[in-house]
Amino acid sequence: MSERTKAPPRLDADRLLDDPRTRIIVCCGSGGVGKTTTAAALGLRAAERGRHVVVLTVDPARRLAQSMGLSSLDNTPRPVPLAEAGAAAGGTLHAMMLDMKRTFDEIVEAHAEPGRSEQILANPFYQSLSSSFAGTQEYMAMEKLGQLRRSERWDLIVVDTPPSRSALDFLDAPQRLSRFLDGRLLKLLTAPTRTGGRAYLKVVNAGFSVITGILTKVLGAQMLRDVQTFIAALDTMFGGFRERADDTYRLLQTPGTAFLVIATPEPDALREASYFVERLSEDRMPLAGLVLNRVHRSPATQLSAARSLAAAEALVPAGAAAENAYSAGGNGGAGALADVTRYPLAVAALRLHAERMQLIASERRLAQGFTAAHPGVPVARVIAQPEDVHDLAGLRVIGESLSAD
Ligand SMILES: Nc1ncnc2c1ncn2[C@@H]1O[C@H](COP(=O)(O)OP(=O)(O)OP(=O)(O)O)[C@@H](O)[C@H]1O
Ligand SMILES: [Mg+2]
Repeated sequence: MSERTKAPPRLDADRLLDDPRTRIIVCCGSGGVGKTTTAAALGLRAAERGRHVVVLTVDPARRLAQSMGLSSLDNTPRPVPLAEAGAAAGGTLHAMMLDMKRTFDEIVEAHAEPGRSEQILANPFYQSLSSSFAGTQEYMAMEKLGQLRRSERWDLIVVDTPPSRSALDFLDAPQRLSRFLDGRLLKLLTAPTRTGGRAYLKVVNAGFSVITGILTKVLGAQMLRDVQTFIAALDTMFGGFRERADDTYRLLQTPGTAFLVIATPEPDALREASYFVERLSEDRMPLAGLVLNRVHRSPATQLSAARSLAAAEALVPAGAAAENAYSAGGNGGAGALADVTRYPLAVAALRLHAERMQLIASERRLAQGFTAAHPGVPVARVIAQPEDVHDLAGLRVIGESLSAD
């Protein structure tokens, strides 16, 4: 079959996890595709195969916290107990959830001039920026990743990325924050508090008094002073912000990093995955492969959808309403269907099977479309589980599925 010749290379998850050169795994993808689940499952599997792992999740839904037995939002890595067999391999697992405000505060405390940090932390403008600025969460994830990496406490860091509109937000966040801090309005606001002497200041100041007038009216004098204090303080730290963002960005480009793009076999998720793959290659970020999550399987693939439907039809006398026949799956419809066929359950099962086979075929077509566009990208499949994944046992099943593909 031609499908076989077009098959993508297989993503060997265990080889990736076992390779001591793999130091960072970043799970990215569009919203709800299974980034958090995959990151946690990979972290657990790597630890139970003997590595010292920390999983960094930025998911405020606390799913990872639940699955890892963490009771609260922790900004510091907490140990996760491993299964006996896994612990025997000598690895360890820590998990943490990113609290972006706390991380921001830590940076201020670590980098502001002595005596300055309290002033900044108490500043209303800072408080609002640190908890609500769009992209802060992504930026903080990068910042935390840099911190974890520098600590050298773990030999593998698995990073989950925030649920964002676009899978690209994670990579763009540091620049967006830089642009914001570099913005003209902020420049104008900081101008009077900068040490003078530069010629352009006169010009800026002329414009500034006008703007100050307007802003004082809008914000109030106290708020304006808050903004200015904050910006002035931030200004002294700004070089550090940018340097660290650049460092982390470069770290992501090194061969020790492996990006995994997660997608479900659905058009939107795969389109987003495609963008991400292209973007990673433009940015020279090392892509390990695509994780196709929530893929459906059938134990009876030898019975095609067409034959299954034909068989169902043969059991229903001509003229019987399809609606009736179909509702036989539920309890209420069995009576109605029993009037038109002697085999209501068989008909319902055959139709369900046909539906499942059609779904499998459509998922396969979508996956083939992705591979046709990106033939070299290795793929691993994770079977759709009958239920949500919220405990360690569930994560192990996902890890096994990932590796067994
Ligand atoms: N293979 C799977 N089988 C069954 N359920 C799954 C599977 N993968 C993930 N799920 C479930 O799907 C839901 C979304 O998964 P998850 O939270 O990992 O996605 P996400 O990409 O992190 O979402 P967000 O973008 O909101 O952070 C969860 O309820 C999870 O338990
Ligand atoms: Mg998530």
